[in-house]
Amino acid sequence: MKFFDDFVKLIKEHIFTKDTKIIRQNIDFNKLNKEFELTTPPTPISDEEVINYLKKYLNYSVKTNQPGFLQSLWGGSHIPAILGELLIASTNTSMYTFDTAPVATVIEKSMISKLTDLIGWGKGGGTFTSGGSNGNLLGLLCARNYSFPEYIKKGNLGKEFQIYISSESHYSIENAAKIMGIGIENIIKVNCDKNGKMKVQDLEKEIKNTLNNSKIPMCVVATGGTTIRGNFDPINEISKVCKKYDIWHHLDAAWGGAALFSNKSQYLLDGIDKVDSICWDPHKLMGLPLICSTFLVKNLSNLRAIASCEKDPSYLFHGKENNFDLGKTSLACGRRADVIKLWLTWLTLGTEGWAKRVEYCLDMASYLEQIVKQHKNLELMSSREFTNVCFRWVSKEINEIDEFNIELRQKLVANGEYMVSLAQLEGVQILRPVIAHPTITKSTLDGLIIEIETIAKSLSK
Ligand SMILES: Cc1ncc(COP(=O)(O)O)c(C=O)c1O
Repeated sequence: MKFFDDFVKLIKEHIFTKDTKIIRQNIDFNKLNKEFELTTPPTPISDEEVINYLKKYLNYSVKTNQPGFLQSLWGGSHIPAILGELLIASTNTSMYTFDTAPVATVIEKSMISKLTDLIGWGKGGGTFTSGGSNGNLLGLLCARNYSFPEYIKKGNLGKEFQIYISSESHYSIENAAKIMGIGIENIIKVNCDKNGKMKVQDLEKEIKNTLNNSKIPMCVVATGGTTIRGNFDPINEISKVCKKYDIWHHLDAAWGGAALFSNKSQYLLDGIDKVDSICWDPHKLMGLPLICSTFLVKNLSNLRAIASCEKDPSYLFHGKENNFDLGKTSLACGRRADVIKLWLTWLTLGTEGWAKRVEYCLDMASYLEQIVKQHKNLELMSSREFTNVCFRWVSKEINEIDEFNIELRQKLVANGEYMVSLAQLEGVQILRPVIAHPTITKSTLDGLIIEIETIAKSLSK
């Protein structure tokens, strides 16, 4: 018990310490490796020694719950969700059967219904997954089953399927297509406009090309909140094209799904009710600790078709209520009850709490965007729809602007007070801070800009 209390005390400190200045220690792999002196001891070490490891772990971990963490599409955590992790581990169960996880099954079904209601599907279904990448894979698998159900028994039979993504889609879709044997050459990257949105006319041209080449148009993947810009594809327009050619429409809303909560941002996802499947990560803007991710499908039978076996495995699905066994709509066998984190947090925030969170993050992004627009050395590199703010440092005196911005970001991270992402937009290096959690305030953003100015000045000398 003392060990438990000591452990929890340190974790509590980590959670409740506010405004930690240094969010990342500047230490390289070899030094860190040495510092830790990691062992797998043949005999137990003392509790104190374990606690010492914990102290070091906390010290050297990036403080992703602090305002200076502006790097990723996630950050911070809700207390109920952290406690939910403890509950999940303490009641250690697997989501495959109602027998094994009765209460978590009821909760998961209810949370999925809540999300599909918000989408406007009424009915619908889904599952919790190991992340948005997995959700995108499920979307493509459902698409193949829709366009060629025979593949389940006979394989692809030499058919060539093509999928359409945008040049700004997340890389997980390419990986999913590789896993499925679609072939990289059959991933068609549709051009985007200057705001990073898929050009619908070009999409239609590509589909016609596919048909002229006797290939099968299998899936159009739209993105609701792209990784770098945070912009949204024209879902409604894309849906019309999908309907016209009878193609599965998957929406990668891993990042932007949360926009549905606020009536100020719902318009971004206009047409979401018309798509066939969606991946949506509550572990991103909704701030649940990784992993908490959903795959949602308008017609659950499509998911069941790809995720269940011809014959139920006799060792698993034999409970009296096996109609409620969620293992039949999941690629996973053993699966954590990640839904608990979503449920507990929803109880304590209410639906209005999600809306406030989204609106706050959007307000902060707008504040940062204004600073960038008014700054003589900052150039906004993309229009902004969500909470990603893409910019770079510019000055007439700098010859290699890309190199300069790469170095600037390196120094920023090395200084330890802020982390922002470095990315490329149309081949140009940019900085991409993102507002993913509400510990970030206006003063955080003012501080970030001052830090960037100081580093830029020192690099210019
Ligand atoms: C648009 C988009 N889709 C999918 C993913 C993958 O999500 P995950 O990291 O949960 O696998 C990301 C990750 O950032 C993303 O930005």
